[in-house]
Amino acid sequence: MNAELTPALAAGDLDAFWMPFTANRQFKANPRLLTRAKGMHYWTADGREVLDAVAGLWCVNAGHGRPEITDAVAKQLGTMDYAPAFQMGHPSAFELANRLAKLAPPGLDRVFFTNSGSESVDTALKIAVAYHRARGAGQRFRFIGREKGYHGVGFGGMSVGGMVNNRKYFASSMLPGVDHLPHTLDIEHNAFSRGLPQWGAHLANELERLVALHDASTIAAVIVEPIAGSAGVVLPPIGYLKRLREICDKHDILLIFDEVITGFGRVGKPFAGLAFDVTPDLMTTAKGLTNGTVPMGAVFAHRKIYDAFMQGPENAIELFHGYTYSAHPVSCAAALATLDVYAKEGLLTRAASLASEWEDAVHSLRGLPHVQDVRNYGLIGAADLEPRAGKPGTRGFDVFLKCFERGVMVRVTGDTIALSPPLIVESKQIERILETLGAVIRETA
Ligand SMILES: Cc1ncc(COP(=O)(O)O)c(C=O)c1O
Repeated sequence: MNAELTPALAAGDLDAFWMPFTANRQFKANPRLLTRAKGMHYWTADGREVLDAVAGLWCVNAGHGRPEITDAVAKQLGTMDYAPAFQMGHPSAFELANRLAKLAPPGLDRVFFTNSGSESVDTALKIAVAYHRARGAGQRFRFIGREKGYHGVGFGGMSVGGMVNNRKYFASSMLPGVDHLPHTLDIEHNAFSRGLPQWGAHLANELERLVALHDASTIAAVIVEPIAGSAGVVLPPIGYLKRLREICDKHDILLIFDEVITGFGRVGKPFAGLAFDVTPDLMTTAKGLTNGTVPMGAVFAHRKIYDAFMQGPENAIELFHGYTYSAHPVSCAAALATLDVYAKEGLLTRAASLASEWEDAVHSLRGLPHVQDVRNYGLIGAADLEPRAGKPGTRGFDVFLKCFERGVMVRVTGDTIALSPPLIVESKQIERILETLGAVIRETA
């Protein structure tokens, strides 16, 4: 263990925490411990400043340590620490839902609260199935996801997801009746596209093939990320999402956009559905909802979906689903304060004004050794590095580590480096991120 990096921890202190999505033994042999954060920066246990080029994990959109959010959370804890949302309510849950409904794509003005992206996804899938049942179409149980999709780690999200390592260990436990569209990453046609790729809208027509295979009457919903983040940033070709929408409409299939990453300003509009002018029927969110401070997710449902449930006796519970911490008062306080910060500082649209500067900066990686592709949209960027023969992922991980050592935190997925800085990022920080990453790529054999 690197004692310098962990002054507060003795040998053995790292053993008990089974870390998520982490190479535990490798990490514990040489830990990277963060102990403080403010604005665009983290500080490590040994006092080094690290520029955050990934907004924590795509969630700290307004930057770290916002006093407005801290104060709201402290005040809420002092006023009412917890209140149940089952057959009870508290005002800030309703206020938050109203505020969110006003930001949402047209018609998506009913909001169900969860505690994470994974819970939002599983909630949306359950709502989709129950919605069809409520309309007398209970035979619609199938879901169509997409290769390279990431929809969290619940059994539902894992089943509709399309990342092989997240699936293969649990192959025996997948939801029945799930099929997948092909992914839209095609370097042969689209390498180094600036913004959305031109080629590939026709890939949405694969949905017609799956409909022909299974029959529309058995399909409940299609779920996709408008821009996939976790698999290494996969962009929708121009026209692709519109085509998916058309096919879903034609066959009465619900369209779910998973906006856990793209929501709350990442793409220059409050949601990607607004940026791409395609309105889904259900939208899953989390992360930026509370600026990453307190766990919370939200599923936005079109009013037609909510209304379909509002039938039968008025004393009957319409949806047998919810969490002890749905609409937790502390999360609601954090989210309301976060929305205030976003509004005051124009952060939900700031990515649009930085997009072209960001695009140029990210594409400065083109031509560097081993760089096979560069992608960008809004304040999202990615570079694919050529995998080392027989050792996939090691080049990407080395680049990630060296960047961290030089004071810039990027994200690595396989051999793809992903960037998604807080939306408060300034030009000089964009320069620093790309200069550091560029220098490290140049030096990494
Ligand atoms: C698109 C998408 N959906 C769902 C999730 C899962 O969210 P959580 O980790 O909060 O469960 C993520 C997390 O990165 C995500 O990117």
